Amino acid sequence: MPGPMKKPRISPDESTPISRLAARAGGEAVLAGWLYNRRSSGKIQFLIVRDGTGYCQCVVAKADVPEAVWEEAGRVAQETSIVVRGRVREDARAPGGYEMTVTDLEILGDSPDYPITPKEHGIDFLLSQRHLWMRSSRQHAVLRVRSEVSQAIRDFFYARDFTLIDSPILTPAACEGTSTLFETDYFGEKAYLSQSGQLYLEPAAAAFGKVYCFGPTFRAEKSKTRRHLTEFWMIEPEVAFLELPGLETLAEDFVVAIVSRALDRCAEDLKRLERDTTNLQKVQGPFPRITYRQAIEKLAGKGMPVKFGDDLGADEETEISKEFDRPVMITRYPASIKSFYMQPDPDDPEVVLGLDMIAPEGYGEIIGGSQRIHDHDLLLQRIKDNDLPIEAYQWYLDVRKYGSFPHSGFGMGLERTVAWICGIHHLREAIPYPRTLNRIYP
Ligand code: 4AD
Ligand code: MG
Repeated sequence: MPGPMKKPRISPDESTPISRLAARAGGEAVLAGWLYNRRSSGKIQFLIVRDGTGYCQCVVAKADVPEAVWEEAGRVAQETSIVVRGRVREDARAPGGYEMTVTDLEILGDSPDYPITPKEHGIDFLLSQRHLWMRSSRQHAVLRVRSEVSQAIRDFFYARDFTLIDSPILTPAACEGTSTLFETDYFGEKAYLSQSGQLYLEPAAAAFGKVYCFGPTFRAEKSKTRRHLTEFWMIEPEVAFLELPGLETLAEDFVVAIVSRALDRCAEDLKRLERDTTNLQKVQGPFPRITYRQAIEKLAGKGMPVKFGDDLGADEETEISKEFDRPVMITRYPASIKSFYMQPDPDDPEVVLGLDMIAPEGYGEIIGGSQRIHDHDLLLQRIKDNDLPIEAYQWYLDVRKYGSFPHSGFGMGLERTVAWICGIHHLREAIPYPRTLNRIYP
């Protein structure tokens, strides 16, 4: 075992983040980071150092450094932590645009036998090494996009005067059907991990007008697909006096804002992911809107018959989304396949005023939302029809008892949105530590 870390000769305190190297061009700088990759050609060693903010090629020339520094540089293995001092040069060909000519180098922490090498590894192996895998350039890029998207989400709602209302994780009742509940013991009573913060936001909308929550949600999804996690993050706005058309506009503005922010601020990361951004640039309003009835007609025309009352599966969604170059909103689904709280359409009572937004390129449903039932007795009836325990929903019914009001909201899955923006195949790479049917490690 290595002993306690000695005081470094080159102080990492003095270091400049790689992303800020431009300010040091022509002068001296200290970098603190990890060895990402190396190449050597006899009397020169090229060390690619990463520090989380970027990558910088550090050039060590045998002729220009003391013998001890040359030897130390030769010992630096993949993911060894190091501090490097040198002169910063602008170089258009270098990754990041700057290169360092090293004058001094010190190893802080060795990294013997780093398990993730530049060779191909299987996905199970990589997932079991997730704590290390996130250092790899693609994974790092995806998680940076996720961070930017999360910030864009908060900024969007903040700028529009929404109040952030954190909904609880431990709950006594289901929001999205009882088949995907994670149950836990709450001092002798049954409790469930939250599937959605929605039910808690509706009362808050009566208190604050426009509210949102943004947090982890849980579903015991027993199917193994590339679009399902058991723990995922959801953003849920809820707005008093808003009806379905207004909700459609909110969802549209929201998605346009997030995608343009990612294009603006994550250009480097998207490039690293080799994401073709031409499709993302087309994500401008207005988005196409079709009803469920129109959707099943279209599908019939394509030889994919769906009868009224059947849900649209991933294949059907993809088929519909192929017709458009931007996200499409499908509205007015049959009441029988949607959640108990959705408001029936007064002009077509078999369907509800709900909306799903389907992302292009096969990424499926990124948003689900609706106008909510605001009539007390109708909601009570729907709770009964769905065999839900009325006692657990008394407080939720109160929203309809004391100053009821039309209101609407939606939920966006963060990982589906990030996967789409990044162009990655599977949701498990869009979250730092994925939880899926067969995985809870690390
Ligand atoms: O359509 P859902 O089930 O809607 C709700 O939960 C509503 N209560 C939201 C609301 O109106 N406030 O889920 C919303 C979104 C989906 O469109 C999808 O993007 C994502 O959450 N989602 C999942 N993402 C990853 N893994 C899963 N298992 C997901 N289930 C839903
Ligand atoms: Mg849904």
